[in-house]
Amino acid sequence: MILDYKDIDDLNRYKIMSGTVVPRPIAWIVTKDEGIVNAAPFSYFIPLSSNPATIIVSIGKKDADTPKDTLANILKNKKATICFANEANLEELKLSSTALAKSESEIEKYSIKVTKILEDFPPMISSSQSALFCTLHSSINLGGDTTPVILEIKKQFIKDECINEKLHVSMKNIGRIGVSFAKMVSI
Ligand SMILES: Cc1cc2nc3c(=O)[nH]c(=O)nc-3n(C[C@H](O)[C@H](O)[C@H](O)COP(=O)(O)O)c2cc1C
Repeated sequence: MILDYKDIDDLNRYKIMSGTVVPRPIAWIVTKDEGIVNAAPFSYFIPLSSNPATIIVSIGKKDADTPKDTLANILKNKKATICFANEANLEELKLSSTALAKSESEIEKYSIKVTKILEDFPPMISSSQSALFCTLHSSINLGGDTTPVILEIKKQFIKDECINEKLHVSMKNIGRIGVSFAKMVSI
Protein backbone atom coordinates (compact mmCIF):
# COMPACT_ATOMS: atom_id res chain seq x y z
CA MET A 1 0.00 0.00 0.00
CA ILE A 2 1.30 3.45 -0.85
CA LEU A 3 -0.05 6.23 1.34
CA ASP A 4 -0.05 9.50 -0.58
CA TYR A 5 0.20 12.24 2.05
CA LYS A 6 -1.46 14.84 -0.14
CA ASP A 7 -4.71 12.82 0.07
CA ILE A 8 -4.59 12.34 3.84
CA ASP A 9 -6.01 14.90 6.26
CA ASP A 10 -4.11 16.23 9.28
CA LEU A 11 -5.67 13.92 11.87
CA ASN A 12 -5.04 10.81 9.82
CA ARG A 13 -1.47 11.91 9.03
CA TYR A 14 -0.96 12.29 12.77
CA LYS A 15 -2.36 8.79 13.36
CA ILE A 16 -0.16 7.20 10.70
CA MET A 17 3.02 9.14 11.53
CA SER A 18 2.75 8.70 15.29
CA GLY A 19 2.04 5.01 14.85
CA THR A 20 5.00 4.58 12.52
CA VAL A 21 7.74 6.73 14.03
CA VAL A 22 8.03 4.75 17.25
CA PRO A 23 9.10 4.73 19.99
CA ARG A 24 9.20 8.46 20.58
CA PRO A 25 10.68 9.97 23.73
CA ILE A 26 8.48 12.38 25.64
CA ALA A 27 9.56 15.89 26.60
CA TRP A 28 7.60 16.84 29.70
CA ILE A 29 8.09 20.59 29.39
CA VAL A 30 7.83 23.00 32.28
CA THR A 31 7.63 26.72 31.46
CA LYS A 32 6.70 29.77 33.46
CA ASP A 33 4.96 33.01 32.60
CA GLU A 34 3.74 35.74 34.92
CA GLY A 35 4.17 33.48 37.91
CA ILE A 36 2.14 30.61 36.44
CA VAL A 37 4.02 27.32 36.11
CA ASN A 38 2.88 25.32 33.09
CA ALA A 39 3.62 21.65 32.33
CA ALA A 40 2.69 19.53 29.32
CA PRO A 41 4.05 16.48 27.46
CA PHE A 42 5.27 16.51 23.84
CA SER A 43 6.40 13.54 21.78
CA TYR A 44 7.35 15.22 18.52
CA PHE A 45 10.70 15.53 20.24
CA ILE A 46 14.22 14.46 19.36
CA PRO A 47 17.89 15.40 20.00
CA LEU A 48 19.44 17.36 17.13
CA SER A 49 23.10 17.90 17.90
CA SER A 50 25.60 17.62 20.75
CA ASN A 51 27.47 20.76 19.67
CA PRO A 52 25.63 22.95 20.15
CA ALA A 53 23.68 20.70 22.54
CA THR A 54 20.23 21.05 21.05
CA ILE A 55 16.90 19.28 20.89
CA ILE A 56 13.84 19.99 18.77
CA VAL A 57 10.21 19.78 19.81
CA SER A 58 7.14 20.57 17.70
CA ILE A 59 4.27 22.30 19.41
CA GLY A 60 0.83 22.96 17.98
CA LYS A 61 -2.00 25.38 18.58
CA LYS A 62 -4.92 25.42 21.00
CA ASP A 63 -7.11 26.73 18.21
CA ALA A 64 -6.59 28.52 14.89
CA ASP A 65 -5.28 31.71 16.51
CA THR A 66 -3.79 30.58 19.82
CA PRO A 67 -0.52 28.71 20.38
CA LYS A 68 -0.41 26.11 23.14
CA ASP A 69 0.70 27.68 26.42
CA THR A 70 4.07 25.92 26.29
CA LEU A 71 4.86 27.42 22.89
CA ALA A 72 3.67 30.89 23.89
CA ASN A 73 5.80 30.76 27.05
CA ILE A 74 8.93 29.53 25.26
CA LEU A 75 8.68 32.16 22.53
CA LYS A 76 8.11 34.88 25.11
CA ASN A 77 10.48 33.95 27.91
CA LYS A 78 13.05 31.85 25.96
CA LYS A 79 13.37 29.22 28.71
CA ALA A 80 12.14 25.64 29.19
CA THR A 81 12.88 22.79 31.56
CA ILE A 82 12.47 19.42 29.87
CA CYS A 83 11.73 16.60 32.28
CA PHE A 84 11.62 12.86 31.64
CA ALA A 85 8.69 10.72 32.67
CA ASN A 86 8.75 7.26 34.18
CA GLU A 87 6.16 4.68 35.21
CA ALA A 88 5.73 6.28 38.62
CA ASN A 89 4.63 9.66 37.28
CA LEU A 90 2.72 8.50 34.18
CA GLU A 91 -0.66 9.47 35.64
CA GLU A 92 0.57 12.99 36.41
CA LEU A 93 2.01 13.24 32.91
CA LYS A 94 -1.35 12.30 31.39
CA LEU A 95 -3.20 14.80 33.60
CA SER A 96 -0.80 17.55 32.61
CA SER A 97 -1.79 17.09 28.94
CA THR A 98 -5.27 18.45 29.70
CA ALA A 99 -5.90 21.73 27.88
CA LEU A 100 -6.29 24.42 30.53
CA ALA A 101 -6.71 28.17 30.25
CA LYS A 102 -3.37 29.99 30.11
CA SER A 103 -4.07 31.47 33.52
CA GLU A 104 -4.31 27.98 35.06
CA SER A 105 -1.34 25.90 36.16
CA GLU A 106 -1.34 22.13 35.59
CA ILE A 107 1.16 21.94 38.44
CA GLU A 108 -1.26 23.52 40.90
CA LYS A 109 -4.46 21.98 39.55
CA TYR A 110 -3.13 18.42 39.64
CA SER A 111 -0.81 18.90 42.65
CA ILE A 112 2.27 17.86 40.71
CA LYS A 113 5.33 18.34 42.88
CA VAL A 114 8.10 20.50 41.40
CA THR A 115 11.55 21.43 42.65
CA LYS A 116 13.36 24.66 41.92
CA ILE A 117 16.87 23.51 41.01
CA LEU A 118 18.22 26.57 39.18
CA GLU A 119 17.18 30.10 39.99
CA ASP A 120 16.94 31.29 36.38
CA PHE A 121 15.03 28.33 34.89
CA PRO A 122 11.53 26.92 35.44
CA PRO A 123 11.38 24.23 38.14
CA MET A 124 11.63 20.53 37.33
CA ILE A 125 9.08 17.81 38.05
CA SER A 126 10.36 16.40 41.35
CA SER A 127 9.74 12.76 40.42
CA SER A 128 11.75 12.97 37.17
CA GLN A 129 15.12 11.29 37.11
CA SER A 130 16.58 13.96 34.86
CA ALA A 131 15.81 17.43 33.52
CA LEU A 132 17.35 19.56 30.78
CA PHE A 133 17.48 23.29 31.44
CA CYS A 134 17.18 24.94 28.04
CA THR A 135 17.11 28.30 26.32
CA LEU A 136 15.40 29.03 23.02
CA HIS A 137 17.82 28.74 20.11
CA SER A 138 15.35 29.35 17.27
CA SER A 139 11.95 28.44 15.94
CA ILE A 140 10.99 27.28 12.48
CA ASN A 141 8.02 28.40 10.41
CA LEU A 142 6.80 25.31 8.58
CA GLY A 143 3.79 27.18 7.26
CA GLY A 144 1.40 24.84 9.07
CA ASP A 145 -0.23 24.53 12.47
CA THR A 146 2.82 23.29 14.33
CA THR A 147 5.94 25.22 15.29
CA PRO A 148 9.19 23.32 15.86
CA VAL A 149 11.39 25.02 18.43
CA ILE A 150 15.07 24.31 18.80
CA LEU A 151 16.19 24.48 22.41
CA GLU A 152 19.78 24.60 23.59
CA ILE A 153 20.63 22.56 26.68
CA LYS A 154 22.53 24.72 29.12
CA LYS A 155 22.51 22.50 32.20
CA GLN A 156 21.19 19.05 33.18
CA PHE A 157 20.03 17.57 36.44
CA ILE A 158 20.44 13.82 36.71
CA LYS A 159 19.99 11.67 39.79
CA ASP A 160 23.33 10.35 40.96
CA GLU A 161 22.20 6.73 40.66
CA CYS A 162 21.33 7.26 36.96
CA ILE A 163 24.87 8.05 35.81
CA ASN A 164 28.15 6.29 36.52
CA GLU A 165 31.77 7.45 36.55
CA LYS A 166 32.06 6.58 32.83
CA LEU A 167 29.08 8.89 32.16
CA HIS A 168 26.91 5.91 31.19
CA VAL A 169 23.32 6.94 31.80
CA SER A 170 20.65 4.51 32.91
CA MET A 171 17.12 5.85 33.23
CA LYS A 172 13.64 4.36 33.34
CA ASN A 173 11.96 6.61 30.79
CA ILE A 174 8.59 6.00 29.27
CA GLY A 175 8.01 6.73 25.60
CA ARG A 176 5.19 6.89 23.15
CA ILE A 177 4.15 4.17 20.69
CA GLY A 178 1.19 5.43 18.68
CA VAL A 179 -1.21 6.63 21.37
CA SER A 180 0.09 4.09 23.91
CA PHE A 181 2.94 4.40 26.35
CA ALA A 182 5.87 2.03 26.67
CA LYS A 183 8.66 1.51 29.14
CA MET A 184 11.99 2.14 27.48
CA VAL A 185 14.28 -0.73 28.41
CA SER A 186 17.50 -1.75 26.76
CA ILE A 187 17.59 -5.13 25.02
C1 LIG B 1 2.24 11.74 25.52
C2 LIG B 1 1.73 12.98 24.85
C3 LIG B 1 2.49 13.55 23.83
C4 LIG B 1 2.07 14.75 23.22
N1 LIG B 1 2.84 15.27 22.22
C5 LIG B 1 2.50 16.46 21.66
C6 LIG B 1 3.33 17.06 20.66
O1 LIG B 1 4.36 16.54 20.27
N2 LIG B 1 2.94 18.27 20.17
C7 LIG B 1 1.81 18.91 20.59
O2 LIG B 1 1.51 20.02 20.13
N3 LIG B 1 1.01 18.35 21.53
C8 LIG B 1 1.33 17.16 22.09
N4 LIG B 1 0.53 16.61 23.07
C9 LIG B 1 -0.64 17.36 23.54
C10 LIG B 1 -0.27 18.42 24.59
O3 LIG B 1 0.35 17.84 25.72
C11 LIG B 1 -1.57 19.14 25.02
O4 LIG B 1 -2.10 19.82 23.90
C12 LIG B 1 -1.40 20.09 26.19
O5 LIG B 1 -2.67 20.51 26.63
C13 LIG B 1 -0.61 21.34 25.84
O6 LIG B 1 -0.56 22.11 27.01
P1 LIG B 1 -0.17 23.63 27.09
O7 LIG B 1 -1.27 24.43 26.36
O8 LIG B 1 -0.14 23.90 28.53
O9 LIG B 1 1.15 23.78 26.40
C14 LIG B 1 0.88 15.38 23.65
C15 LIG B 1 0.10 14.79 24.67
C16 LIG B 1 0.52 13.60 25.25
C17 LIG B 1 -0.30 12.97 26.34
